[in-house]
Amino acid sequence: MQRVWALAQKERERAVAWRRYLHQHPELSFEEFETAEFVAGRLEELGYAVRRNVGGTGVLATLDTGRPGPVIAFRADMDALPILEQTGLPYASARPGVMHGCGHDIHTAVLLGTACLLSGLREELRGVIKLIFQPGEEANGGARCVIQDGVLRQPEVEAVFALHVLPDLPVGTIGLREGYLSATDDELLIGVNGVAAHSSTPQEGVNAITAAAHILTALESIESCGISPFEVATCSICKIRGGETNNVIPDRVELWGMLRCLDKNTKALYRERIQRICTGTAHALGAEAEVEFTTGFPAVYNDSQLTKQAAAAAEGALGDPKRVLWLPRPNLGSEDFSYFQEEVPGVMFALGCGGQEGAGGGLHAADFTPDEGCIPVGMACQTAIALRLCGKERG
Ligand code: NI
Repeated sequence: MQRVWALAQKERERAVAWRRYLHQHPELSFEEFETAEFVAGRLEELGYAVRRNVGGTGVLATLDTGRPGPVIAFRADMDALPILEQTGLPYASARPGVMHGCGHDIHTAVLLGTACLLSGLREELRGVIKLIFQPGEEANGGARCVIQDGVLRQPEVEAVFALHVLPDLPVGTIGLREGYLSATDDELLIGVNGVAAHSSTPQEGVNAITAAAHILTALESIESCGISPFEVATCSICKIRGGETNNVIPDRVELWGMLRCLDKNTKALYRERIQRICTGTAHALGAEAEVEFTTGFPAVYNDSQLTKQAAAAAEGALGDPKRVLWLPRPNLGSEDFSYFQEEVPGVMFALGCGGQEGAGGGLHAADFTPDEGCIPVGMACQTAIALRLCGKERG
């Protein structure tokens, strides 16, 4: 497996150059036209069968070894964010207001680099390996689009893998976790309706602000409404709007927030409790409240057996078990890779991209500067996973 690391090092420069091109030419969700064309072009040069316009602007490459064996897939997301880049890098975004601030340029370059290594190892592989370059991960759930367009079928994918850069982990390491890795996130909008009145005659009105204030406070004590303290869940109200002027009691207040959970059943329970608190509290004060949820991505849930396989493969490729870190807890962000995992078992791992000096900003920050040393690490790990699951000697 040391050989895989050596191969990744050999192709490092090429993959870094690809990443810099992608970084300089970022495109927003479902507008990844040039990115997709760039990706498809590189894959065709490498001899892959390529399908364009998958689920919109996605690209699917297939390596069919012609030998019977497992069908596995790797997924990278390609979209950028509406952020004005402030890294000062020589290859900074050439498009003001659009930036690869979540490392999807790295993910795409790593998967292209993996494609490069796998095509060289073709004679040592069996089965089919699919490389999925997905559009619209940021808030749009592009995963669903490519799945609906059949990337997991014909032939049926049995295991799917992905990675996401993580600046909290030092470059050279990866982070793994069995079970939950990220959360499910639902948006909520609470509308509180009262009765408008002049502030000189409050007895004629029902102040929606007062009701909203009580609802806010009551939501803080949701754990005492039948939710186990051992369930991971958090509900934050992050925006509130109501009232027009200082002498009229308002009849409408709106509160916006997020509900983040791991478990689906906990989420259902949490939603029901939020509903009950809002309507009950409003009612007690003579007002009315309605709650509207917008369902977000499911939680990323890593298959236990495949996670162990991925860890063993990565340890081999990186040559040191200490470079494979076990993440103690999930994070409560969200990732649409979870849609793939609803179809087939899969693993997402974290790719350490934190620089030596601790510089480099956080994900979605205007100064996010991942250490490019993570690129060969990601390539080596994905290639090693492919060799472990689809290596000929294991057949
Ligand atoms: Ni991301």
